[in-house]
Amino acid sequence: MIERINRLVAEVESLKAASLVEVEEIRLKYLSKKGLVSVLFDDFKSVPADTKREVGLLLNDLKNKAHQKIDELKSGFDQDETASLAKLDLTRPAENLQPGSRHPLSIVRKQIIDIFGRIGFTVADGPEIEDDWHNFSALNFTPDHPARDMQDTFFIATNPDILLRTHTSSVQIRTMETTKPPIRMIFPGRVFRNEAISARAHCIFHQVEGLYIDKNVSFADLKQTLMYFAKEMFGESTKIRLRPSYFPFTEPSGEMDVSCNICGGVGCNICKYTGWVEILGCGMVDPNALENCGIDSQTYTGFAFGMGIERITMLKYQIKDLRLFFENDVRFLKQFTGAF
Ligand code: PHE
Repeated sequence: MIERINRLVAEVESLKAASLVEVEEIRLKYLSKKGLVSVLFDDFKSVPADTKREVGLLLNDLKNKAHQKIDELKSGFDQDETASLAKLDLTRPAENLQPGSRHPLSIVRKQIIDIFGRIGFTVADGPEIEDDWHNFSALNFTPDHPARDMQDTFFIATNPDILLRTHTSSVQIRTMETTKPPIRMIFPGRVFRNEAISARAHCIFHQVEGLYIDKNVSFADLKQTLMYFAKEMFGESTKIRLRPSYFPFTEPSGEMDVSCNICGGVGCNICKYTGWVEILGCGMVDPNALENCGIDSQTYTGFAFGMGIERITMLKYQIKDLRLFFENDVRFLKQFTGAF
């Protein structure tokens, strides 16, 4: 018995925790009803009378040390985190549970929202089931425009006007229809395209699009905003590259690459030996799109951009197969939370 106690004392004294969740796991392991320390207390009943006092003192000492250690580990973490753990609201969506219990896509979505939040972008939401106007027509895709082919769409069979949104640009339209500029917002959300499921594509994925409309907004503002984002997301040494592209609702349009953060731009299989990886589409909002929403294109200009959260997450965590995000395999998920 004394030997077991001494062993546990040594064990408790060397405990370390990387998060509050781990501290809680430690508490459960040692001090819960069936915990290692509590079990010793049960065994104490059968300790012979002549050593009871000695063993009792050692046991109490062990228990105090375990409590002390846990308090000490806890105090190593942010007070806010401790407070939010205490106020844990189990009715909230899992992504809001603090800390841990987070899907990698939720982690990265939150990072994106925080990064843009720091420069004044607020968040708006919209419906996943859309009409043609908000997903296509208002965005300058005329009915037979070939650009519609870029986004293979799920339509509701009985009504070709109703579809699953293919991008969150639909929320940009809804926002512009109802909000007077200046508008500085981002639009995270789930989108749907009729793609064959593979390591690189899925019929469901997630985007964050952004919109900034005001007087005198220029391409330089777009570039600076995106450069800030890239450096915040992938590190200070990240470089960006803008290539000309085409979207019906922006003119001029571009696609942005970031220098590959995996090989540092030297070339690897992630960046296909180019040193660059594409992360988003962007451009100056086409005057037609502004006018379609009742915004005077003589007075206002703006930029927009859109990125896939899966892609950013894959780059950040070097995940090679997009399907992993949707399979709910805990062996994958727990690598991001440590809390299952
Ligand atoms: N909506 C585009 C897409 O999903 C991305 C984009 C948004 C491009 C805003 C330019 C401006 O592909």
